[in-house]
Amino acid sequence: MAPVAISSRRVADLLRATTPAARPGLPAYQGIAEGLRRLVADGRILDGTRLPSERDLTAALGVSRTTVAGAYAVLRDRGYLASRRGSGSVVTVPGEPSSGGPLYPSDGLGEVVDLSLAAPSAPPGMVEVFEEAVAGLAHHVGGSGYHPFGLAQVRERVAARYATRGLPTDPDQIILTTGALAGLSLALRGLIGPGDRVLMESPTYPNAIAAVRDSGARTVGLPLDPSGLDPHALELALRQSAARLAYLIPDFQNPTGILVDEDTRGLVGRALRRQAAVAIVDETPAELLIDIEDVAMPRPLATFDDRVITLGSASKTFWGGLRVGWVRAPLPDVPRLQQARLSLDLGVPVLEQLVLATLLDRQGAVLEHRRAQLRRSRDALVGALHDRLPDWRFSVPPGGLSLWCELPAPRSTALCDAALPLGIRLAPGSAFGVGGGLESCVRIPFALEAEVLVGAVDGLARAWRTAVEGPVRPAARASLVA
Ligand SMILES: Cc1ncc(COP(=O)(O)O)c(C=O)c1O
Repeated sequence: MAPVAISSRRVADLLRATTPAARPGLPAYQGIAEGLRRLVADGRILDGTRLPSERDLTAALGVSRTTVAGAYAVLRDRGYLASRRGSGSVVTVPGEPSSGGPLYPSDGLGEVVDLSLAAPSAPPGMVEVFEEAVAGLAHHVGGSGYHPFGLAQVRERVAARYATRGLPTDPDQIILTTGALAGLSLALRGLIGPGDRVLMESPTYPNAIAAVRDSGARTVGLPLDPSGLDPHALELALRQSAARLAYLIPDFQNPTGILVDEDTRGLVGRALRRQAAVAIVDETPAELLIDIEDVAMPRPLATFDDRVITLGSASKTFWGGLRVGWVRAPLPDVPRLQQARLSLDLGVPVLEQLVLATLLDRQGAVLEHRRAQLRRSRDALVGALHDRLPDWRFSVPPGGLSLWCELPAPRSTALCDAALPLGIRLAPGSAFGVGGGLESCVRIPFALEAEVLVGAVDGLARAWRTAVEGPVRPAARASLVA
């Protein structure tokens, strides 16, 4: 990961906001070391970040130079800090990978309760929609079946959906793909080369981290505050890292569930333009607003910056088994994305495209069902966690598919290890980190039925007891999904 410096003021603010008042008898340098260690563990300060010099942090904290020197020495001793010639003191995460690997999907049909996956089952009526689509194939079998950018009737419907969300779109701006992840790979192919830097929120969707790294690009992490995406921090990170591409999930972010408001979207658009950076905006979870009575959906980020490349997907709105998504690109970028497409694959199966067209026509009813299901599951999960694991902290997102929980101790990997023998599969927090850490966090999706989740929380409470009582094991290189 490319190194990014953090200012002394930012470190001082983070320490003040997250470290409890000094414990009596604990020397000040140990308090600062412990505070910094926690900030690394919960992903607010990323692996590879350059800390301020001792002198600068001394001034920002208003303590003595020996206090800061002592804190840095403790961190160096414990493997959290490396001194690099010319780079000062750089954060390292002992025993942990710099981030997890991609998540491997399971079919969700086995004995194990799969909480490593944030993906709902198909809504009722899916088989019938496929049957209708089979009948519709009659119009297509006389042709070659090759539609590398998608059938016109599907691209028109996808474009019309953007228009109803406040973003007028020409169907020629749409390229259908086999899912949003394939759309990301396509965009990366078309837009960047090896060694380029791509800024990503941390935590973020693990398979997107893997897609960026496998494209030969270098990831730059932007720690997400619980309050959401900070446009100033985004701009600073773009400037410091010279990243010209940013991958963002502004709608019910995976895994945090954060929904970026319209004002912030405007500021993000301006920051991107000032830094000559283009955003790939992944809207896979964007249709999953649950609290429709309380929250008005902000307009798409591309409304605020017409250079944005948007990724969409049928996977969460409808069903992951469809394997259909799309890229919406500014018209001048379309030819090079089409070119990239032609050497990747030659399109999405016609049958699945016809299914998507029908589902888009019936979107209102499908979403109503999805919303009711997610509301039941989210609220049941929240209730069960408050009841059985009251010291886990989380905000309740207004939509999306998961809760991002802060654990009272950095034992996420141990929790996953302890949960598996109890029949619960989980992804550790570190799998979502761009720059390590996040051992204090775990994502709990609410895509499964409410009763299943309530039962699973019983298991999680038992697993958590085992995790806090057992020995600390470094986070494993996670190989895990959605
Ligand atoms: C943000 C995000 N993007 C993309 C995907 C994968 O989407 P698709 O199935 O369309 O490839 C997921 C799945 O969880 C996701 O959360």
